[in-house]
Amino acid sequence: MPLMCVCMCSIQTTPHQTKPKMFRLAQRLLRPTAAVAGRVQHGGRNVGMRAPNPQPKPQPQVSTATATATATATGTATATAPFDYRQKLSSAQVIEMEEKYAAHNYHPLPVVWERASGVHVWDPEGKRYYDFLSAYSATNQGHCHPRIVQAMTEQLGKMTLSSRAFYNDAFPRFAKMVSDTFHYESMLPANTGVEAVEGALKMARKWGYEKKRIPAGQALIISACGCFHGRTFGAISMSCDPDAQSGFEPMLPGNMKVAFDDIGALESTLKQHGRNVAAFIVEPIQGEAGVYVPTQGYLKAAAELCKQHNVLFIADEIQTGLGRTGRLLASDYEGVRPDVVLLGKALGGGVYPISAVLADKHIMEVFTAGTHGSTFGGNPLAAAVGMASLEVLTKEGLIDNAYMLGEHLRTQLRAINSPFVKVRIT
Ligand SMILES: Cc1ncc(COP(=O)(O)O)c(C=O)c1O
Repeated sequence: MPLMCVCMCSIQTTPHQTKPKMFRLAQRLLRPTAAVAGRVQHGGRNVGMRAPNPQPKPQPQVSTATATATATATGTATATAPFDYRQKLSSAQVIEMEEKYAAHNYHPLPVVWERASGVHVWDPEGKRYYDFLSAYSATNQGHCHPRIVQAMTEQLGKMTLSSRAFYNDAFPRFAKMVSDTFHYESMLPANTGVEAVEGALKMARKWGYEKKRIPAGQALIISACGCFHGRTFGAISMSCDPDAQSGFEPMLPGNMKVAFDDIGALESTLKQHGRNVAAFIVEPIQGEAGVYVPTQGYLKAAAELCKQHNVLFIADEIQTGLGRTGRLLASDYEGVRPDVVLLGKALGGGVYPISAVLADKHIMEVFTAGTHGSTFGGNPLAAAVGMASLEVLTKEGLIDNAYMLGEHLRTQLRAINSPFVKVRIT
């Protein structure tokens, strides 16, 4: 994959088109404004997730003039005063409120977003920023794309939820559009990315028992170290990151891990355990790990090994898919057609959580009525948004544009001669 971006870029040119994504550069560039007190946290690989070295929390500087308002807004002074949630809040007030009332499972940069459009976001004080992170790849179409917002608004005025106890007139259209776009016979709808991961793991085990005839209770899933698949027990059980697992034990059984980009490791594991392995799951490019592109040929060889051992090859394209790397799917760079593809993030155009498992019928059919489901999965609002998100990606040429601008960004980054910029080309 020689042409892959340094970052997974989705750079576009119109106001509603997005930008290069580069985690570390974003951390450098997102310097605090005068209005936002506190220090930029250089948080390592997962921007906003955590900082490897504990650093002081941003200390919002609240002037005396705003102190009373802050106290009221955050409920520190007048606990009984009704909270006017519509009131204007400064960046400092927002940060203080979140610190006080929300779980500290993220470590955000001290920048508050109040509105966003295309590549740009604005803080409450009106300062404009470029978004270099794209909500971890969920806003490939740009923030608040008007066609996606319009599709959502129209559907909102009509009907939002049927549950799958009934048919709704939007979901089947979305399923067909997904099938036509990605060339899989069937889709399983879900909401967040990790739900697609869970769905795929369950499907793989069931397929393993029913189709591959793995002895009951012995199905194995192989994952690749450093790949990120989400935060449920199923997903963290496949992780090699001690932070993801520590304190949450016991992990689910039935997982085996191999080194990423090590075809020998996969080969020997399959040789030894292949008969009981239902699936191998991998990110075609590691996203959260810091954007690691595997050696050219790795995905193809892995898919081939899976075929030889009758193991499902699952590509987690939740971050790499939907144009993020300059192709519809990152697997396309090696001409690989995974048995199962997972989509999420940008499938919802940055406005609604939508995810999906794609597979052909001989695999998907292991799900029968009552074996798996989701109240909101396949809801008409999601379907309307999903269709618009796909249409924008393909009709506005965003995928080719991401490729072209990824090249441009890489060239320009290489040319920067600054002690503040380090460029790693993978
Ligand atoms: C490759 C990959 N898979 C799964 C997930 C989980 O998605 P979500 O956070 O929507 O559950 C992520 C999220 O970052 C991801 O990058």
